[in-house]
Amino acid sequence: MSKKLIIPKQIVTADAEDKIYRNYSIEIEEGIIKSIAKVDEDKISKYYGEVLRYPNLTLVPGFVQTHIHTCQTLFRGLADDLELLDWLTMKIFPYENSHNKESLRASVKLSLLELQGGGTTTVMDMGTMRHQEVIFDEFIKNGMRGYCGKCMIDENELYPDFKETTKESLSESYQLAKEFHNSAEGRIKYGFAPRFVLSCSEELMKETHSMLGDFEDSIFHTHSSENKSEIEAVRKKYGKENIEYFNSIGVLDDHTVLAHCIHLNNSEIDSLKTTQARVAHCPSSNLKLGSGIAQIPRYLNEGIQVSLGADGAPCNNNLSVFTEMRLAALIQKPVHGPTSTNAKTIFRLGTIEGAKALHLDNEVGSIEVGKKADLVLLNLESSSHSLPDDDENIYSNIVYSSSPQDVEHVMINGGWVVVGGKSINLDEEEVVADAKEELLKLLKRSE
Ligand code: GUN
Ligand code: FE
Repeated sequence: MSKKLIIPKQIVTADAEDKIYRNYSIEIEEGIIKSIAKVDEDKISKYYGEVLRYPNLTLVPGFVQTHIHTCQTLFRGLADDLELLDWLTMKIFPYENSHNKESLRASVKLSLLELQGGGTTTVMDMGTMRHQEVIFDEFIKNGMRGYCGKCMIDENELYPDFKETTKESLSESYQLAKEFHNSAEGRIKYGFAPRFVLSCSEELMKETHSMLGDFEDSIFHTHSSENKSEIEAVRKKYGKENIEYFNSIGVLDDHTVLAHCIHLNNSEIDSLKTTQARVAHCPSSNLKLGSGIAQIPRYLNEGIQVSLGADGAPCNNNLSVFTEMRLAALIQKPVHGPTSTNAKTIFRLGTIEGAKALHLDNEVGSIEVGKKADLVLLNLESSSHSLPDDDENIYSNIVYSSSPQDVEHVMINGGWVVVGGKSINLDEEEVVADAKEELLKLLKRSE
């Protein structure tokens, strides 16, 4: 990999001091940020390596989304206007159950096209019950960074056809973790993914959590406390609130990432705090499924770790981190007041806090010397929707005004994955045509 010197208009670092550099260059070698230095034209004229000047573009860290379902992207627009349990029973479980390798591959490619094209460079994916190796294969081939893991389901009253035995689920997860944890030069890690309390036995949850001990820095990733009917069913099943139940079986710690966490009582909030379990906040999904609004300002005040995710395409219906940032900021304001969330805080949730949630903050999430070069060049001057682009309103522009269309170039691990808004690895026309064809076949299979 050659040496590169990138000279953008400005660098928004998301480091501990929220430093913003103007007239600085950033040097990348072997996929690592080697230096960040004031532009020195004398030195640059003698630089041997590529010199890339982007006088109109803003460099930001690659965005991190901590809750995604790439297997669901094919179902976008096919499960609207339902609440969670109906959405799963009537649409999502039957569709996921109908995936074969080809339809799954089409769904993952479509996801990566959208995620990378929108500046997301790291995700944690909930995976798929069958053919999980296909997701790993596409992540590896397309230069993605993140945690993935087989979706684990060993009980399913909502849709009984869609489950495996406890033993199958555990042993396949273990084998996949052995094969893929820390693969692709460490870009890919294993995230164990028991789906949620209503589709997992207590044994599955506990045994899965104990497997983390064999895979350093693997993650326990599940859904929690998303919807009132769901938590009522959890109460019926275990006589406890969702987080209370997780705490009682010992699966909460700093390597646990819980999507949603909307309906929590005070003692559950305390449990998140004391165990350091993480919250993956998914505002679009929470609104679209009518689930509720998580008390994010309170969680942040209490020191609970919060990051962002688009969740699945059928409950969003996009995978844009910009939409999640904008909504995360806006939805709190009517309830908690306009100062309860600000653009800079929310920008951090989409970058460094996402990396912290996944224990990847030594590697990504901010632009600092020694970190991996996961970088996004944004054009905040391209059109009327994000002008003016002043020193004062940079975070505001990114969080409140920008969109994936403003993403010009994206680099992961020092290699370009998107240049001029186009994917380097994926042929958009082919991916879209394939997705259409595979969806038709899948819908036939699911009839
Ligand atoms: N709970 C269990 N499965 C799912 C899912 O696929 N999406 C969401 N939003 N919640 C879930
Ligand atoms: Fe989800």
